[in-house]
Amino acid sequence: MDQGKIMIGWLFRISVLIGLAGMVGGMAMGMTRNVLLAPAHAHLLLLGYVAMFLSALYYRTAPEAAASRLAPVQAVASVVGAILFPIGIVCVRLGDRARFMPVLVAGWLTVLTGMLLFVVIVYRSTGRAAARATTEQSGEASIKARIAGTAAAHVQNM
Ligand code: HEM
Repeated sequence: MDQGKIMIGWLFRISVLIGLAGMVGGMAMGMTRNVLLAPAHAHLLLLGYVAMFLSALYYRTAPEAAASRLAPVQAVASVVGAILFPIGIVCVRLGDRARFMPVLVAGWLTVLTGMLLFVVIVYRSTGRAAARATTEQSGEASIKARIAGTAAAHVQNM
């Protein structure tokens, strides 16, 4: 299996596990009627479940994006950021704000790095060069199909 497919598989698997953990956390909040950690719950689910699952779907529809050298770096940044940022929120909300602020900022910067890389990856794989490559490929395919069709017609006429 190629590296892109392995990365996509991991992104799907990690995102659903984070989704499950976030929902269990949400249920715990509901049962205890303590919503102090609601922002951690919301960011964990939106970054770790929704955004990560969507990025895996994008990589599946654009294998050339998944095969790029930036993609694994983006994937690791998105996983680390999606976990570290909510941990930072929990630490700041439950503990000493000034002491744990660096954890929150580190998580936030990792999330931002992952998103910036994803912007570059999406722009590269949907830009003019990518569109031209697709058009050239489909042009080549239609010429090949036409040649094959003409050859078949000749054989039938013989
Ligand atoms: C089993 C599933 C879930 C449960 C039991 C649950 C529970 C909760 C609870 C109890 C709150 C606090 C509400 C309040 O402030 O009164 C909350 C807030 C929130 N949840 Fe969930 N949730 C679930 C799934 C999700 C999912 C899938 C998402 C997004 C993908 C999500 C996003 C949010 C957001 C954005 C907030 C508001 C956070 C804030 O006010 O800071 N939740 N949820």
